[in-house]
Amino acid sequence: MKPVLAITRRLPADIEARAHASYDVRLNEGDTPLDRDAILALANGADALLVSVGDPIDAAFFDALPKSVKIIATFSVGTDHIDLAAAARKGIVIGNTPGVLTDATADIAWLLMLGAARRVSEGEAEIRTASWRGWRPTHLIGTQVTGKKLGIIGMGRIGQAVAKRARGFDMEVHYYNRKRLPADQEYGATYHDSIDDLLPHCQFLSLHCPSTAETRGMVNTDLLAKLPKGAILVNTARGDVVKDSDVIAALKSGQLAAAGLDVFAGEPNIAPGYRDLPNTFLLPHLGSATAETRTAMGSRALDNIDACLAGKDVPFAVKT
Ligand code: DGY
Repeated sequence: MKPVLAITRRLPADIEARAHASYDVRLNEGDTPLDRDAILALANGADALLVSVGDPIDAAFFDALPKSVKIIATFSVGTDHIDLAAAARKGIVIGNTPGVLTDATADIAWLLMLGAARRVSEGEAEIRTASWRGWRPTHLIGTQVTGKKLGIIGMGRIGQAVAKRARGFDMEVHYYNRKRLPADQEYGATYHDSIDDLLPHCQFLSLHCPSTAETRGMVNTDLLAKLPKGAILVNTARGDVVKDSDVIAALKSGQLAAAGLDVFAGEPNIAPGYRDLPNTFLLPHLGSATAETRTAMGSRALDNIDACLAGKDVPFAVKT
């Protein structure tokens, strides 16, 4: 008899096929977001559970989790939707998918930076609504990216990949990270040992830190006021790292010229103020959404499950 694997969302076809080959799969065929009780019902009697970004794997979930489940593998690098302390208390292994979404996410950060700076959503809306009045010298004037100063908060794999791309745009890159990186991982960026020290250098600010107790709500009015006036904010990390009402106020006052956002607190709902502003460039959490990356993420998630159920070391186990 094959072990039972419960999967909360549809996966790329090749990954689902691999799962079916090794497991008795219980899949949320409808691909709708499941609440805690629905995930628990799906996991009832399962040996392993494969979850995704946004699934509420909180302390109450672990309290009610059937004892048969040995591993929860998340189809993500982020683990902020999982209560890791509760997992440790219950002895449940957690696996994630690091390393394979670095380039795809760095590309989207760059897309947002360019799109926000160059007023791409306003321009595209004119084309789509047939309201373009033709080329004119004062039409949709944006901000030049090349040669500007870019600040990065969180210089992990994705932050580094963003810094690497910035070299092609002749940018002066500055970063804050809990620890200074070895010189060969800095990509010519200047290290700052505090966020306060970094902020005056950020004509563009790109966020690449996880959502933790320390970072939640970190981008607030106080932080934004320390940026040069007219800075551009890019977020491909997690929505709750920014305080929406403060970012919206800064976009209205001109303290921020624009924001490019791929992630939102409470996805798929977003603070309505963002939609109403012309100077936002908004995407529905597409950072890792390339065929190559999603297949690689699925492989890592299944590798974690295969190893755990075979009693081997889980290759991408999360420290709980
Ligand atoms: C992750 O893996 O945490 C990403 O947010 C998915 O795009």
